[in-house]
Amino acid sequence: MTAPVVPILPETIALAAEILSGGGLVAIPTETVYGLAADASNPEAVARIYEAKGRPRFNPLIAHVASWEMAEAEAVFSDAARTCARAFWPGPLTLVLPAAPGGQVSDLARAGLDTLAIRWPAHLAARSLITAFGRPLVAPSANLSGHVSPTRAEHVAADLGERIDLILDGGPCEVGMESTILGFIGETPVLLRPGGVPTPLLEVTLGRPIRSHEDPNAINAPGQLKSHYAPKARLRLNADAPEDGEGFLAFGPSVAGGLNLSPSGDLVEAASKLFAMLRALDARFPRIAVAPIPETGLGEAINDRLRRAAYREAG
Ligand code: TXA
Ligand code: MG
Repeated sequence: MTAPVVPILPETIALAAEILSGGGLVAIPTETVYGLAADASNPEAVARIYEAKGRPRFNPLIAHVASWEMAEAEAVFSDAARTCARAFWPGPLTLVLPAAPGGQVSDLARAGLDTLAIRWPAHLAARSLITAFGRPLVAPSANLSGHVSPTRAEHVAADLGERIDLILDGGPCEVGMESTILGFIGETPVLLRPGGVPTPLLEVTLGRPIRSHEDPNAINAPGQLKSHYAPKARLRLNADAPEDGEGFLAFGPSVAGGLNLSPSGDLVEAASKLFAMLRALDARFPRIAVAPIPETGLGEAINDRLRRAAYREAG
């Protein structure tokens, strides 16, 4: 079934909030580009985003908020970060900040990072939906992986119409390019993606130059900004059963015990449980055997993550 494309009205905002509460996916207009929104706190809904976009990896997603209270509950703001937020929110600026302890954004939405990308969009429909929903929404650009970002509801329908539940049509996006993404190493600002807020405006606001993460002189910024969750335990992939002393991460019908990502072999369920189960086993075992996971659909992203976790430990 193709997702209905509906205008922005109080009843369609209420319908969208209801779909999101049930774990569904709704495309929403923002001032930058259309986003594919899901409940940030629901890992199964987040897994559906990755599935719908056909992303081969769990790229971290931006959490969209609609108040200072919501923002402060999810991320830890330094003075510099607060200065930028005060100057440009609501608007096309995303800040990458330490995730707040007790925040609601799921591990899967952060792709296991201990930082969170957070933005308060300016678009009125996006803001009313987040406010009606009452919690942050994660929303990557609403295009298939590898395609350009959509700036009209028709673009979303062409890419994702068959894969999502509803498209809110707010007309063409005003800014038409993605938000600027700014990270910090301590108080030092690092540009992670140029976008809707021109970098010179940010530099004036902060009173200091901003390095690009692509600048070779920029103290290994991406490495320092990315601290992925990596298990301490050694991982053994494609294991049919655990050996003595190993924890077991199972998938599909299994008699071997351990924790099962999805007894029925559902890859969306498996993706939604991956980070929590890895952490639980990591806390109890020095070694973890991992059952084979098919490379189809979300299996590609799950296996990418498992291979990187296994490789880190080995090398
Ligand atoms: O304008 C926008 O930002 C749009 C609208 C919908 O808000 N969203 C958007 O999301 O462009 P997406 O997922 O297409 O791009 C988000 C970028 C990705 O490149 C991701 O790697 C990066 O943000 N990102 C997210 N969380 C991050 C983090 N914790 N650290 C570094 N980069 C992060
Ligand atoms: Mg994108």
